[in-house]
Amino acid sequence: MRNEQATQLLFDLSVPGRCGAEYPESDCPEFSSTACIPAEFLSDEPLPLPEVNEPDVIRHFTNLSTLNMSVDTHYYPLGSCTMKYNPKRHERLASIAGLVDLHPWQAEEDLQGMLQIQFEMQQMLGEIAGLPAVSLQPAAGAQGELTALLVASAYFKDRGENRTKVIFPNSAHGTNPASAALAGFDCIQLGAGKNGFVDLDELKEHLDEHTAVFMITNPNTLGLFEPEIGKISKMLHEVGGLVYIDGANMNAILGITRPGDFGGDMMHYNVHKTFTGPHGAGGPGSGPIAVRDFLADYLPGPVVARDEESGQYKLETPAKSIGRVRSFFGNVGILLRGYFYLRTLGGDGLKELSEHAVLNANYLKEKLKHILPVPNGERCMHEFVASAQHLQKELGISAMDIAKRLLDYGFHAPTVYFPLVVPEAIMVEPTETESKATLDAFAATIEKIIAEDPELLHTAPHSTPVSRPNDVQAARNPVLCWSPACDA
Ligand SMILES: Cc1ncc(COP(=O)(O)O)c(C=O)c1O
Repeated sequence: MRNEQATQLLFDLSVPGRCGAEYPESDCPEFSSTACIPAEFLSDEPLPLPEVNEPDVIRHFTNLSTLNMSVDTHYYPLGSCTMKYNPKRHERLASIAGLVDLHPWQAEEDLQGMLQIQFEMQQMLGEIAGLPAVSLQPAAGAQGELTALLVASAYFKDRGENRTKVIFPNSAHGTNPASAALAGFDCIQLGAGKNGFVDLDELKEHLDEHTAVFMITNPNTLGLFEPEIGKISKMLHEVGGLVYIDGANMNAILGITRPGDFGGDMMHYNVHKTFTGPHGAGGPGSGPIAVRDFLADYLPGPVVARDEESGQYKLETPAKSIGRVRSFFGNVGILLRGYFYLRTLGGDGLKELSEHAVLNANYLKEKLKHILPVPNGERCMHEFVASAQHLQKELGISAMDIAKRLLDYGFHAPTVYFPLVVPEAIMVEPTETESKATLDAFAATIEKIIAEDPELLHTAPHSTPVSRPNDVQAARNPVLCWSPACDA
């Protein structure tokens, strides 16, 4: 019954003449329903809205809200996404009236508390990165990448250098080349290096006075720390290029090593991943960037500064700023959650969380490797990429079959088919917030699934309202509205 309802729209539930409640027109003219609408927009024609009563609407949305999986309802080992538990304490702190009731147009003197939080957040992120200048504006990791590349572009232009090339390994997240192309650079993808690492000889071939930036995720998207990252950074710097660290995988290295210490010049954070902003389904996000001091002048403005004499916080636009990339101060709701998370854990807590994230990933990898071998790396960082290629060949069971069947057993699926360098990839990121019992149950379930009839797996999941949507069609031809015209 619930599943049946879930595939219906409010328009399907519509019955002519049915409505929730009818209130009398307000006798205060300024509160009447049409008072603020200019006359030219008013019409006597009824709008084509569904005609439903209040209980139907409430049940419709309440049922819909229970159909998806979330970190609060299910184990969610989605590789590269750091779906860790979001502590409710930080949700509560981020919702206190003194913060949520502020308006960004208020005068700076009225915003001192919020500005102090932002200033301290800039400082903490700079410290964790080993890169002192921070902008909190970008609203997601991908926007952080684009922003940093625009900063790099402004920096090279200012120096009169014609640098056109952005280089990245073949395991790069798709947003890296997308950001580089959007920022106007030419994209160069390296081939497959040994054990999934960068091939230094191949990299060298692309380094010259036109090289702008080398972008690399570290730990990389195979869950491995690039052993030659120091050497790679040195090679880039020798030709005057910059190193961009995609910080999506910071969960593995907090308080242990810093992008600035291993040669990075710029990086982004995914606050929504590493510092527990609830995320998924496209938002909300926050992707602050941290850069070396010689790039600080180009950051988007405003940034928050502190007047040493008065102790007052103020908004400042850096001297050669690339301009705004987001309204007001960035995605404040997520930044606040991240701020309280960082304040709660402190330096020692951050280091401990990374150690636990790495321990959990290695534990699960060892439990699963006899059925899901991991082609690259004996030890992993906070995640690992296994391959279902042999299962595909021997039993016809694909990575997708396993992922889909996991939903029937109440587990969110790991990431599949990314990175592209591993055939039939299954990318598992357990996170530090899961217990040994949960990891054991997950491993046991995978074992059970692989022993099941492959035919059953090909049509899984069997317990969800929608089983196997056409992914390509859904992405290429999304239908996001309902109207009779959409049916045509
Ligand atoms: C390695 C990597 N880089 C960049 C991004 C982009 O981050 P966002 O989704 O916040 O735009 C992701 C997101 O999944 C990622 O995994």
